[in-house]
Parts: sequence; C-alpha cells; structure tokens
Amino acid sequence: MIDSHLHDRLGRRVTLRPVDDDNWRAVADVAPRDDQRAWVPALAARYLLLTDRTDVWTSLAVYADETVVGHVMWGVDDDGSRWIGGMLVDAAEQDHGVGRAAVATLAQWLAGEGGGNPVRLSYHPDNAVAARLYTSLGFAPTGATEDDEIVVELVTLA
Ligand SMILES: CC(C)(COP(=O)(O)OP(=O)(O)OC[C@H]1O[C@@H](n2cnc3c(N)ncnc32)[C@H](O)[C@@H]1OP(=O)(O)O)[C@@H](O)C(=O)NCCC(=O)NCCS
Repeated sequence: MIDSHLHDRLGRRVTLRPVDDDNWRAVADVAPRDDQRAWVPALAARYLLLTDRTDVWTSLAVYADETVVGHVMWGVDDDGSRWIGGMLVDAAEQDHGVGRAAVATLAQWLAGEGGGNPVRLSYHPDNAVAARLYTSLGFAPTGATEDDEIVVELVTLA
C-alpha cells in the first residue's frame, strides 16, 4: 500500500493499493463522466488490459477508506523518468479531493524511490481540471508534447 496519510474533503483516507483478486472488478468498473471520454477511456478496464499486456505500466487501485474510487498507474521510461498515467476517479466520486490526494501520494512515492529521476505525466490541453490540478501540485511543462498532450514534470512537490 502507498499511503501519504492524505484525506479527501469527506475525511476519507486516500491510499493506493495493488490490483488483486479481490478488487480488480471494482477497479475495472471505474468510469469517467461522459463529457470526459474525449480524454480517457470509458472504463478503467482499458488501463488494466494495458498494464497486463505490457511490462511498462503498473496499475494501482485508488481507495477512499475501504472503497475503490479510482485507478492510477505508474511506469519507468527508458531514460529513467517516472511516469504517472491512467488517472481516473469514478464520476460519482469526483470533486471530493480524491484526485488531488492520489496524484500527490503517487508523485511523492515516485520522487522518493526514483533515485532523483524526474516524475512526469501528460494531459490534453483542453482538460482544464487536470491542468489546474497538476499545476497546483507542483508540475510544470517540460516543453515537450506527446500524442497531442502537454508533458509536465514535478518541480516541487506542493
Ligand atoms: C482529473 C481528475 C482525476 C481529478 O480528480 P478529482 O477527484 O475530481 O479531483 P479533486 O476533487 O481532487 O479536485 C482537483 C481540483 O480540480 C477541481 N475540480 C474537480 N472537479 C471539477 C469540476 N467538475 N469542475 C471544476 N473543477 C473541478 C477541484 O476544484 C480541485 O481544485 P482545488 O483542489 O484547487 O480546489 C478527475 O476529474 C477525473 O477522473 N477526470 C477524468 C479523467 C481525466 O481527465 N484524467 C486525467 C487525465 S491526464
């Protein structure tokens, strides 16, 4: 379990846990709002298949107390940089502070275990909520883009 002792605005403890035999169905069912499907798949199941089919990514279940409320994944690029991807909070659980706590928790963990390698992620420029969230957590643009997305890097953990 990855636990930075952060809570959402409902007072629930937000933790990141391995996807296992007990929780994978709940993680697979995590779904965005319909209007967010331009940026993310219709279900987190797609991310689980991706992490299962490649060696690059590792999926994690996002928990609020003992309830699965989201998905996030991490990976290591050829240059050693750590990447965060697949950040998805279930539509019914959004805007309660889960996303902020989950990204902060994973970024802090990756910065700690990464031996000084940068922590990066990317988002679509039209995704205003994601842009504001990542900027406020201390990510800044590297100047690079990837698949039409803006690449940002953790500068200071806010
Ligand atoms: C982006 C996402 C992960 C954020 O998760 P979340 O739990 O809703 O976010 P939080 O509640 O922690 O809020 C983060 C910030 O976004 C703002 N926010 C969240 N939902 C919002 C909404 N519907 N409209 C406006 N602002 C919103 C919050 O006000 C908050 O800002 P603050 O901390 O300065 O107050 C979530 O919206 C999501 O899953 N979106 C669809 C998938 C996606 O876009 N993933 C990112 C791909 S890079």
